[in-house]
Amino acid sequence: MPTISQLLEEKTAQAIAAVTGAAAPALVQPTANPQFGDYQANGVMAAAKARKMNPRTLAQQILAQLDPTTIPATWDIAGPGFINFRLDPVWLGRTIAAIAADERLGIDSVSQAETIVVDFSAPNIAKPMHVGHIRSTIIGDALSRVLRFLGHRVITDNHVGDWGTQFGMMIVGYRTLLNREAFADDPLAEMERIYKAVQAQGKADPAVAAQAREELAKLQKGDPENTALWHEFMAVSRQAFDRVYARLHVGFDHWLGESFYNPMLPGVVQTLQTKGLARLSEGAICVFYEDDPELNGTPFIVQKQDGAFLYATTDLATIQYRVDTFHADRIIYVVDSRQQLHFKQLFAAARRWGYAPQLEHVGFGTILGEDGRPIKTREGEPIKLAALLDEAEERARAIARDKNPSLSEDELAAIAHVVGIGAVKYADLMQNRLADYRFSWDKMLALEGNTAPYLQYVYARIRSIFRRGELEDWQPTLGMDVYLRAPEELDLAKQMIRFGDALLEVERTNKPNILAGYLYDLATKFNLFYQAHSVLKAEEEARSTRLLLCHLTARYIHKGLELLGIETLEAM
Ligand code: ARG
Repeated sequence: MPTISQLLEEKTAQAIAAVTGAAAPALVQPTANPQFGDYQANGVMAAAKARKMNPRTLAQQILAQLDPTTIPATWDIAGPGFINFRLDPVWLGRTIAAIAADERLGIDSVSQAETIVVDFSAPNIAKPMHVGHIRSTIIGDALSRVLRFLGHRVITDNHVGDWGTQFGMMIVGYRTLLNREAFADDPLAEMERIYKAVQAQGKADPAVAAQAREELAKLQKGDPENTALWHEFMAVSRQAFDRVYARLHVGFDHWLGESFYNPMLPGVVQTLQTKGLARLSEGAICVFYEDDPELNGTPFIVQKQDGAFLYATTDLATIQYRVDTFHADRIIYVVDSRQQLHFKQLFAAARRWGYAPQLEHVGFGTILGEDGRPIKTREGEPIKLAALLDEAEERARAIARDKNPSLSEDELAAIAHVVGIGAVKYADLMQNRLADYRFSWDKMLALEGNTAPYLQYVYARIRSIFRRGELEDWQPTLGMDVYLRAPEELDLAKQMIRFGDALLEVERTNKPNILAGYLYDLATKFNLFYQAHSVLKAEEEARSTRLLLCHLTARYIHKGLELLGIETLEAM
């Protein structure tokens, strides 16, 4: 079914067009203040202005066109010409009963499914995944889940950094500095150590730097020994990444890293030159943007003087591949906002080339420590993702044990995992992604406030209501009577039917915090309802309606958190 705001938008826009003879949006939105009804159409003023009409008069004429038999609401005019709608409680009750009978909670699949490639996570090989990659992983996974639920064909692709200058240094380090025991123990840490050591040596001693360049050149030419080493670095990195992804419940359809595109790079540069889009400048081959006031002066280098290809070249080949092979209509890059210029240049170059899917850079800010500076360990090192997840689980376990000392070790472990990982993910997802945010263990693990534990707790609490009533298998019956009378019941039901709008808004803006905010409002409205009304002890007529409200709240939280990549527990 369409969402109620879509229905109101459609009907009001039709009425505007019928009166004015011109199509104009009705701009229907939930009202900020429930005193003024549930939804408000704001578009009349603009339509009146365009025809030089008095907005209130126009609003009157529009109202006369609205057909009460097709709109489940009452309406009136407010202020200079807003139209306020108040939903019909009987319709609302029937609607939530119908939603309860639907596996998809009444959410339609989009009418035009697109093939959407989501490029996210993309850590670099031979370097541990650190906290900088966490945002991409969490946000990218959540967006993929929402888009897939809405019915799009989503292809997730981990564009790992598995090719580049780091490998020359890695190979030198492996041969001269490797501690085999440490490598067996924690390969990524040892790889990082030798990488940094060779990097430092190379700065002090040009011979080392030259050696690293030589090994890199050999690797690029396919030298068997260096290629074998590269495969080894790949394999151990992959294992370490997979462990982190398993803990986060994140998966990918493809792992087409930078190296995959290697064979295509000469062709890309060649084509760009033939088409006159790139040209030689000071020995390098670049795309210039002379006719683009924003990008003019920032050439996009696709081949260096020494013949080497770059990140830019690989990304162009990647677009070509994704369009030609996956038939992508849309590609979403979930990458740190600091790469904004790269993506602007990339998208502009791809468009000139004739590859024109919808290209979107979904940027995000930095995670700050409690001191307000980019988060680091006490030693000033970047925080490693695996260590961060360990700490999250430990802290969640300690809190759970504190609250309920009778929990078994198994129960504690399950809570630690679901709550700890959920808290870290949610703390990221509930932020407007474009802003930096301060990482705070106490805030993200709190049972009060806009946190994962709060939502998980409301879910578990609802499940316990059904257990206490011995109603674990309770299911709403089709066409059951629903009596929404108390304001808290109505508010909760009205919040429920906004779920579809929230998902569409996530789709439109690539902002998962809209879904997080929706869930937080839902849980809060549930708590207000539950504080004001008994459920199990209510008399029969109210009882089944309230059980339905409980049942649906739990399902919305479960589904919503699942779309954010977060699990729930039956008891906490
Ligand atoms: N590996 C890169 C980094 O860590 C991110 C790659 C993002 N994806 C892309 N197609 N450029 O910065």
